[in-house]
Formats: sequence, structure tokens, C-alpha cells
Amino acid sequence: MEKKKRGGFSSSIGFVLSAAGSAVGVGNIWRFPYLAAQDGGGLFLLIYLILVLTFGFTLLTTDIALGRRTKKNALKAFGSIRPKWDFLGKMTFLVPAIIMTYYAVVGGWITKYVLVYATGAGQTAAQDEYFTSFITSKAAPIFFTLLFLALTSFVVYCGVEKGIERFSKMVMPGLIFMIIGIALFSLTLRHTDASGVERTGLQGLAVYMIPDLTGITISRFLKILLDAMSQLFFSLSVSMGIMITYGSYVKKDVNLNRSISQIELFDTGVALLAGMMIIPAVYVFSGTEGMTSGASLMFVSLPKVFSAMGGIGTIIGFVFFVMVAFAALTSCISIMETLVANCMELFHASRKTVSLIVSVIFAVASVVICMGYHVFYFELPLPNGQTAQLLDLMDYISNSFLLPLICLLTCVFVGWVIKPQWIIEEMEISGHTFRRKKLYAFMIRYVAPILMLIIFLQSAGCF
Ligand code: PHE
Repeated sequence: MEKKKRGGFSSSIGFVLSAAGSAVGVGNIWRFPYLAAQDGGGLFLLIYLILVLTFGFTLLTTDIALGRRTKKNALKAFGSIRPKWDFLGKMTFLVPAIIMTYYAVVGGWITKYVLVYATGAGQTAAQDEYFTSFITSKAAPIFFTLLFLALTSFVVYCGVEKGIERFSKMVMPGLIFMIIGIALFSLTLRHTDASGVERTGLQGLAVYMIPDLTGITISRFLKILLDAMSQLFFSLSVSMGIMITYGSYVKKDVNLNRSISQIELFDTGVALLAGMMIIPAVYVFSGTEGMTSGASLMFVSLPKVFSAMGGIGTIIGFVFFVMVAFAALTSCISIMETLVANCMELFHASRKTVSLIVSVIFAVASVVICMGYHVFYFELPLPNGQTAQLLDLMDYISNSFLLPLICLLTCVFVGWVIKPQWIIEEMEISGHTFRRKKLYAFMIRYVAPILMLIIFLQSAGCF
């Protein structure tokens, strides 16, 4: 009865693809490649891989096991184990609520670019002011945001098995094919620029893969470590209640050890392939300077690269943005699902009613965020040195401030209050041994909390 009401994933592969769908998002496709390019290529990759297997694995295991053992959403999960820790559930719930206000807005920008390439207008998107004039226009961004939100709401409305699981099984394999296809194509590129210098995709691959140790200092090494760490926990969608909710839908006989390794492999594999796809292409057509940070890489630099490819660039650009749209949709679905699931539990209401109400609330919030580029425009300096508009401010509060804090508190809760054994028991309940349990216990008690504290202090601008 209880199980029927909550819904759940029908199979282990359905769970893995849905969780991977949440984890694989715009973070993997644009943020990972530019961090890798800016942070010494291979060195960043090496550090990232070590962190995935230690730190990432610890955080992912914690969230998923917490969800499956309590069969609750974040809002109630912590309090159901220790009533005093109820506040942590409330804090965790805040993160998807804040991210949801702007994620559909970015999804809307991506949808717009899918349409631009579908109609063969890729050359226009390569013009200098195109992106800025689009996001600062009044109606278009709102229209595309609402379209993206409607798609997300529809899948969530259909439920865990019939909506999320089915949709993820459909799009995630397609996403892998597209990314491998474009990555291979990128390696075959070559271009001679105006000054007669020829650059090839394979040289670009070398820039990406080979560690660049020139001028490496301790402080630069620490910066790379911090970048890799904050990228990792954003990328795995941990500490925001999402993986707790998804974990609560997993049957007890599923081998979580294997599922967690598969999710990590999927997420990291897509990030690595995204780098293989973007860095050589940008390098061939604009050298390493094209690897700018933030939204401009995806919406400004890449359209220029596609345009420089000639006719085939329109097709590649189209496939690229469809792929990014899939990645963003499955992530947005996981955020909305977390909100809906928490509210269903809180108000004892049906999925259909709650999905509709949540959709309307976030439609309004997303419109406000869209207006942050004209009506509500401001320039706010942040503690980490960036200048923010409304969207960046929401991003800062959720990802740079709340996430590390929640993650730190979760580590203290699991490592010192309920003790790692609580999670280890859940990992072994299906009859499989949890091989990395010693590593897990050590990471969650000592290493992860210290790392999180450092990230938190850094984003608060303390150093
Ligand atoms: N993990 C996603 C990515 O790498 C981002 C995301 C953030 C997804 C928040 C869900 C919630 O892009």
C-alpha cells in the first residue's frame, strides 16, 4: 500500500539511468570542459578522477542509502532518524526550490538554440551580440522557458515509473551516442587561421589530456583541487535531496554498490567525452582563448565554432543542442520531482495536484528570473568576486553557499551522529558486500567534512 502510493523505479537500470539523467546536465557539458581547459588539462582530469572514486562516491552513497533506508524525502528523512536534525531536511529542501527558479530559464535558452539550428539559422546565432540581445528581449526568453518547464512538468506529472524512468531510458542512450559521435568528429577537424597556423583536432586533444605543469605552484594546485571538488558535487546532484528522493524509490534487493558505480561512471564518462568534443573543436577554430567561462562558452563561442565548420556546422550544432536539451531536461525533471515528492509527503496530496501547483509557482518564479535581464536588472558584487544578476544570485545562494554547508552538516550527521555503520548496513541489505566500506567510513568522518569546510570558506570569500 505504502509502496504503491510512493511509486518507485521498476528496475535497477531504470534507477541508474534516471539518477544519471539527473547527474548529467549542463554542468558536465559546458562547465567541466572549460574548467579542464583552464586548469591545466590532464592534471585537472587526474585530480577529478581520484576525487570521483573517493569523495564523490562517499557523497553519492550517503544520499542514496539515506533515501532507501528511510523511504522518505529529504524534508522528513533526517528528522525521522534524529528529530533534532529536522532542520537539515528543511535546509536541503531549499536547494532544489532555489535551483528550480532558474534551471528552466537556462533550459529555455537551450531550447531556443535547438530551434535556431533546426531552422538552419545557425549563422545568425554566431553573431557577436546575438545571445545578449536574446536574453535581454522581453517575450522570447519567457516563451522558451515556459515551454521547457511544461515539458518537465509533463514528465513529472506522469509519475516515477511511467514518466521519469521511461523518459530517462529513452533519452540517456541517445545522449551517449550523440556525444560520442560529435567527439569523434571533433578529432577529425583541422583549420588554418588567417596567420597561416594550422591546428588539428588531435592537437586539441593533447591540450585537453596532457597535464600542463608549467608554472605550477602550491596555490595553483589548491585552486585546481577546489575547482575539481566543487564541480564534482554539483555534477553528481548530491546534497540537494535529489538523490535521497531517487534512493527512496529503489527496491531493497537492488545492489546499490553496483548502481552507484554505474552512476559515477556515466556522469564522469559524459564529462570526459564533453571535453573531448568541445576542447578540440574550440582549439581548432579559435585556439585556447575561445575557452571562456560561463554561459558564453556554450551560447557564444560554440555557435562561432559551428559556423566556422561551414554547412555541416548547422547539423552538428543542431545535434549538440538537442543533446544538451536532453541533459538539461532530465536534470530539471529530477529537481522538480524532488520538490513534488517532498510536497506530496508534506501535504498528503496526490501527485497530479501537487505537480500542477508546483508548476504554476515555478512558472511565475522563472518569469521573474527572465526579467532579471531587463526589468529587474542589477549588478551585484558577490563575495567570490563575480558580478551577479538575479539568475547568478540564485545560483550563488544555492550552489556556492547552501550546498557546501548542507554537505558538511550531512557528513557530520552521518559520520558522527548516526555513524557510518548505519549507511553500511543499508548498502549490504541486499546481500552484497560493501567493498569500499573502510574508505567510506574514513571519508565521511574525516576527509569529506574538512574538504567541505574549505569549499564553504572559499565561496564565502574568506580566501
Ligand atoms: N548535476 C547537474 C549537472 O551536472 C546539475 C544539476 C544541478 C542537476 C542541480 C540537478 C540539480 O549539470
